[in-house]
Amino acid sequence: MKIKSICCIGAGYVGGPTMAVIAQKCPNVKVTVVDINEARIAAWNNEDLSKLPVYEPGLDAIVKDARGRNLFFSTNVDAAIDEADTIFISVNTPTKTYGKGKGMAADLKYIELCARQIARVAKEDKIVVEKSTLPVRTASAIKSILDNTGNGVQFQILSNPEFLAEGTAIEDLLKPDRVLIGGEMTAEGEKAMQALVDLYASWVNRDHILTTNVWSSELSKLTANAFLAQRVSSINAMSEICEKTGANVAEVSKAIGMDSRIGPKFLSSSVGFGGSCFQKDILNLVYIAKSYGLDEVANYWEQVVLMNNHQKNRFSDNIINTLYNTVSGKKITFLGWAFKKDTNDTRESAAITVADNLLNEHAKITVYDPKVSEEQIFSDLEYLNSRDPKQNRALLKVEKDPYLAMKDAHAIAILTEWDEFKAYNWQKIYDHMLKPAFIFDGRRLLDHEMLKSIGFECYEIGTGN
Ligand code: NAD
Ligand code: UGA
Repeated sequence: MKIKSICCIGAGYVGGPTMAVIAQKCPNVKVTVVDINEARIAAWNNEDLSKLPVYEPGLDAIVKDARGRNLFFSTNVDAAIDEADTIFISVNTPTKTYGKGKGMAADLKYIELCARQIARVAKEDKIVVEKSTLPVRTASAIKSILDNTGNGVQFQILSNPEFLAEGTAIEDLLKPDRVLIGGEMTAEGEKAMQALVDLYASWVNRDHILTTNVWSSELSKLTANAFLAQRVSSINAMSEICEKTGANVAEVSKAIGMDSRIGPKFLSSSVGFGGSCFQKDILNLVYIAKSYGLDEVANYWEQVVLMNNHQKNRFSDNIINTLYNTVSGKKITFLGWAFKKDTNDTRESAAITVADNLLNEHAKITVYDPKVSEEQIFSDLEYLNSRDPKQNRALLKVEKDPYLAMKDAHAIAILTEWDEFKAYNWQKIYDHMLKPAFIFDGRRLLDHEMLKSIGFECYEIGTGN
């Protein structure tokens, strides 16, 4: 069989960019991305491409090319399911905030709603593709719902996890290290897998398209994120030893990364990893391990998250200690709020935890981020529920001009590695700050020799000075 019409449920950071690339590379396939969030769909349809709901370098050009030709964004979920031969489920799978597994397990309510909706609407056989990141064995739950509540049509369930990273999503989608497709090892399963392989083969070399059983595919996604996050926590653990011993974490990273068995990537020490997935997926893995009674396995992986929490907290503790043990009433400017550069996504950003810790100490924070809106920043703080929204607004300001943001500040904290920060006129910034002028570089972004020669008091993760 050949895939001719796709419906993707979920127009988020994965659904939007992934489907835009499929539509661009497969002009004969109709791709409809649907979502229950009307504002999000309206933004995807906005004529002004700078208003797309997801900021990703290169995304606007692809949307411009394909939208209205074979790429459509709609809130009519039923119609898109009905029309498609293949349905991607790309909805969010956040950590549960209630009931059994609260704070650990993945909340699969959105997945189940999708499965029930597909079962209700589908009048013909369909391939259902898990694009969301899911606990291993979710496919059996989806299959059970589809088979028991459907209209007697056949469903093939494939697992096709997404490995894109935000900020480089388009690059990652155009040239993926691999595409992973898991399916049932039956004749029908093989046929469905082949159809999806053929779709990706429109632009991905077949050697990079891997097929496995469903459970390996589901588990490989959680494993990949756990291994990546583990590298960041490992180098962050070393950053603290470096600060005590005079070693330099960048030199240590380079030295170990040149060992081809270790490799150079994902060894940048930082204020802590953020993003919507690392923490949630590891906690999910921990929960799965615990549910099988594998306590040692669970404890091993949980340590990656605990180390990350420590890294964020020790960054804010250091700011407080350095500013003479009190930040009350002091202006501290945050450069960056997003969880990494080149994205407007702030989910689990280290900046949120650091801000919350400093606000608890009554600091006055001013935030500048080139892509994150004021509304998003306050919504991130309100979600924590640490204080009432009025207090957040009294203590934290969002500024659109970076120089104004840093004027009269006691200290600057670099929370995101946006390139533009490197090009600022640091002499001018120094001249307009209170003295001593402190910089806490949580991303090892700036040239500290230059800053020190201007007169700044510097702290850098992994060297301490
Ligand atoms: P997101 O929150 O940006 O988008 C999910 C969208 O699904 C939302 O717009 C929501 O309104 C919509 N939705 C939820 N239930 C729906 C329903 N019943 N019908 C229609 N729409 C519905 O999430 P995301 O970042 O795109 O992540 C989606 C999945 O992909 C998650 O499982 C995540 O773990 C995984 N993933 C994310 C990334 C990433 O970089 N963000 C990378 C790889 C995998
Ligand atoms: C990550 C994975 O890299 C993707 O493969 C995966 O698809 C995705 O999660 C997902 O499942 O959601 P993402 O979170 O978008 O992608 O971004 P990363 O580049 O992995 O960065 C995650 C966090 O780790 C960021 O806060 C980043 O600043 C931090 N990081 C990364 C470091 O602190 N040091 C590093 O060396 C690398």
